[in-house]
Amino acid sequence: MYNNSWEKVGYVNEEISKNLDLKVEINKLKREKNAIIMAHYYQIDEIQDIADFVGDSLALAQKAASNDADIILLSGVYFMGETAKILSPDKTVLVPDINAGCSLADSCPADEFEKFVNKYSDHTVVTYVNTTAAVKALSDIVVTSTNAVDVINSIPKEKSIIFGPDRNLGNYLESISGREMMLWDGACHVHEQFSIERIVALKKEHPDALLIAHPECKKPLLLMADFIGSTAALLNYTSHSDCKKFIVATESGILHQMIKKSKDKTFIPAPPIDSTCGCSDCEFMKLNTLKKIYLTLKYEYPKVEIEEKLRKRALIPIERMLSVSNQIKKK
Ligand code: 13P
Ligand code: SF4
Repeated sequence: MYNNSWEKVGYVNEEISKNLDLKVEINKLKREKNAIIMAHYYQIDEIQDIADFVGDSLALAQKAASNDADIILLSGVYFMGETAKILSPDKTVLVPDINAGCSLADSCPADEFEKFVNKYSDHTVVTYVNTTAAVKALSDIVVTSTNAVDVINSIPKEKSIIFGPDRNLGNYLESISGREMMLWDGACHVHEQFSIERIVALKKEHPDALLIAHPECKKPLLLMADFIGSTAALLNYTSHSDCKKFIVATESGILHQMIKKSKDKTFIPAPPIDSTCGCSDCEFMKLNTLKKIYLTLKYEYPKVEIEEKLRKRALIPIERMLSVSNQIKKK
């Protein structure tokens, strides 16, 4: 069934007729195959609009763990597809382009992380969800940016903590929780690229705007921010705030939902250092297109596959995280 050349490029590479209405075809395939399309907030607008479910990393994991579909098509980056497969091994999990990686996950190779973990064997190992299954398998508990503070607070005070791979999120968590942690030195290239100088200039130009930022941003930016939160928290903040203007320091895809929810408000994407590159776009997230989604559903390729022993080990810290989040929700 597979065409070998697709396997080499990592997505289905096929010419399609210009007259094909991709949205109609995708919906037809979804119905025929009982598939659900789940998209992260950083996806292009058209993908967010065709998705059955749009959310942040935590919401995508929660939805992957409980839905009635036979096929999950996860339009985001690879670790999100992997998390869905870890949680739903009996479902077919598809991603539109296997090359949609993550610079943060790449900054933490499992073999090097294992050496780090072994050096501090009495520590609780907490990892951000932006990691490979192999790194999750080395962890005691996983966090997303939505529940990281709750998870850290759930760990007994006397336990020392290793946190990886994001040093910026790690620094932020240290400042909020008052806990010192052994930090892995990784980062996301998109969130590290925002220009303080250009943001200061924007704030002068728009004194009525609030600066809101994702905790993956560097400390000097977070110190300037009026609000810090995950993509879901930023979206919630802008839709409930009385303020009418926001400078948004995270990947630009989130602006689509912000504008949809608050048509009367103005959203200004925070500018990157290099004005010639679109660094506030994550090029991995932006690899996904409607055409790739259509062909992925049609040929059920590329599929996420994880070796069962690794999957079972990686499931443990993810389930612990979901359980902390459920307990917090019930309170
Ligand atoms: P969220 O946890 O806010 O979805 O963040 C995911 C991500 O990749 C941030 O860069
Ligand atoms: Fe990874 Fe950064 Fe892209 Fe998020 S924005 S997926 S952390 S590279």
